[in-house]
Amino acid sequence: MRTSTLASVALAAVAATTLHIPSSMAGAGQWRAPEDVLTELIETNESDYLTQSEQNIMMMPDNAALWTAEDGEALFREKRGPNQASLETCDLGKGPGVVEGAYVELPRFFEDAGRVMDLESRLVYCMTTIQGFSPDDPEVFKRHGSGSDMMKLQTYIASKSSGYAWNPPMEHPLETAMRDAGEVLFYRRAGTSDFACATCHTSTGKRIRASVLPNINASHEWTKAISWPAYRVGQQDVRSSNHRIRGCYWQMRQPQSIPGSDAAIALMSFWTDAARGEPAILPDKKR
Ligand code: HEC
Repeated sequence: MRTSTLASVALAAVAATTLHIPSSMAGAGQWRAPEDVLTELIETNESDYLTQSEQNIMMMPDNAALWTAEDGEALFREKRGPNQASLETCDLGKGPGVVEGAYVELPRFFEDAGRVMDLESRLVYCMTTIQGFSPDDPEVFKRHGSGSDMMKLQTYIASKSSGYAWNPPMEHPLETAMRDAGEVLFYRRAGTSDFACATCHTSTGKRIRASVLPNINASHEWTKAISWPAYRVGQQDVRSSNHRIRGCYWQMRQPQSIPGSDAAIALMSFWTDAARGEPAILPDKKR
């Protein structure tokens, strides 16, 4: 996995030289098609998790999530809401309107909001402050399904980070505090079955029925695990990180996590940090 990371850094450096882009502007990678990122990970690592669905890998270039991303781009640029404003002034961490490589650097601390935010809570912030939507408006309130504005916008923004290395900043004290809190949540056993996230996600090749579970300690597996939004074939919908967290808490028979809560964002801070340096596969396709 180290070789593939080094190789992609080297490739990015070559590309930057050819295009005469100063390497300081090239960032932590460059855009690459999700199917190419996955193929390279499979070529450089032995992993039953990465290779478990040949059909999904074959269908990646025709991923239905690509339509969702396209709809999201239109929504991002459209003047909407009571303020008739687009999201082109929304700062996702890399400056107003900058989407390229923004998602792999989330969650991060935002000065204006005074807290660490993931993509979903940042979008809620921009839609309410810039566009003037109320949190109860369906544009903001509806979080799930390919048809929701939230999934369209998230898929578009995330797709602009495909191939970039996960690189959540750990500079502000709240950024490290959130990651550390997420680590505690990940390893904390609770509920009637005494499950922790770690029970299912810390060894290689563990299965539940036919599903091979990703190991958080194998970063080449974990990068695919946290590559959301992803089109879930079994659900025929594009799903978010928050939806995955909800699903896994349900499997643990523990109370539901609330999107936008510090607990949900802390888990994402921890899981993104665990994939640091590995290239993102966005949008992904999962079973
Ligand atoms: C009882 C076992 C179990 C526990 C405990 C569990 N998960 Fe999962 N997790 C799964 C299964 C099964 C899948 C894959 C679902 C599928 O293939 O449809 C999954 C999928 C995931 C994925 C996406 C990978 C993929 O291929 O879909 C992430 C990320 C994840 N879990 C994180 C967590 C976190 C965070 C927790 C704790 C809040 C947690 N899991 C607790 C069983 C578990």
